[in-house]
Amino acid sequence: MSLVLATGGLGFIGSHTCISLIENGYDVLIIDSLINSYEETFLKLKKIIHLNKKAKKGKLFFIKGDLNNKNLLDKIFQEKISEGYPIKSVIHFAGLKSVAGSVLDPIKYWDTNINITMNVLSIMDKYNCNNFVFSSSATIYKPIDSGKLLETYEKTPLNPYGNTKLAIETILSDVFKSNKSKWKIVNLRYFNPIGAHPTGLIGDLPKENSSNLFPVISKVIFGKSKKLSVFGSNWPTKDGTCIRDFIHIIDLADAHVAALNYLEKNDPQILSINIGTGKGYSVLEIIKTFSKINKVELPHNFVKKRKGDVPYLVADNKLALELLDWSPKKSLELMCKDSFNFFKKNVFKISNSQLKSRKSI
Ligand code: WQD
Repeated sequence: MSLVLATGGLGFIGSHTCISLIENGYDVLIIDSLINSYEETFLKLKKIIHLNKKAKKGKLFFIKGDLNNKNLLDKIFQEKISEGYPIKSVIHFAGLKSVAGSVLDPIKYWDTNINITMNVLSIMDKYNCNNFVFSSSATIYKPIDSGKLLETYEKTPLNPYGNTKLAIETILSDVFKSNKSKWKIVNLRYFNPIGAHPTGLIGDLPKENSSNLFPVISKVIFGKSKKLSVFGSNWPTKDGTCIRDFIHIIDLADAHVAALNYLEKNDPQILSINIGTGKGYSVLEIIKTFSKINKVELPHNFVKKRKGDVPYLVADNKLALELLDWSPKKSLELMCKDSFNFFKKNVFKISNSQLKSRKSI
């Protein structure tokens, strides 16, 4: 099988995708600066691979490195070529990803997200490595109040994070046009990835303080915060709270393998694909499901709307279903169960007995 470079491969989405790649026989080289991830995750990936006796097994390597260092990237590509094992594809996860963080520091977001991508693309071009999967986002779309977002819908990001993602898609379009007989590029537009690996060894644990819903829920459950603040109760939705297309991280990881397989089997092209379930759940439905499945209380109150939020973000995922021979398989209940299991085991290392002492519904 071929060697895939996973930039930012120790992050939430990258780490789960590396497991899917390895279990499908790819060899994976992770490069990660560890500014928003942990080296310990690499050891946990090795453990998960070891535990999974039945799957085909690729090999997994890790290099700590900053993609702003173009010479390091050049050296890595050269070394792999001299070893007779060139990097065939790149899945580009690396980048700053907090919507709130991008509003506070747009210069850092533009500088980082654009420059590291330009370094990766120019080294790939130098060494004729032309299969590229980009970690894009649903935040590039112009908000809608109902219906499902098609890939052809208008793109008007509401924050610098989304603007960098859209800018990179534009760069990729120009790169493709520069040599249409070489480049195979897919932009995977993620909706809301949640959940964790069933072993509970890896999950959503960024170094940067996350304002995302599930990491915040975990803080409430494990006593680090008193209540979950629900941002807005009078949105134009069925229960007044925002609706999102939550997708299990394992389904999202498998979509990357499907996208890579698609690129390898098809002619040079560039395409953008929504990766979501096509089902929307409100924040209140999440609270209810999480509490019920994990038998825990989730105290919450309603506060004012958060700047940059939109009422409704649900994918039309027909293109993914048709082209990628992929479909999301895991339920919202499993997303909540796996998420809880990871946080219990890793973030707050709380025992079952301690947990039992909390009032359960
Ligand atoms: C989800 C819902 C909040 C926290 C994320 C990422 C973005 C992109 C898309 C990949 C919203 C509500 C949240 C809280 C709340 N992913 N909420 N109280 O904003 O949809 O965007 O997914 O590119 O990078 O940020 O996700 O988890 O922050 O919020 O009420 O304390 O939960 O209003 O409706 P969001 P989120």
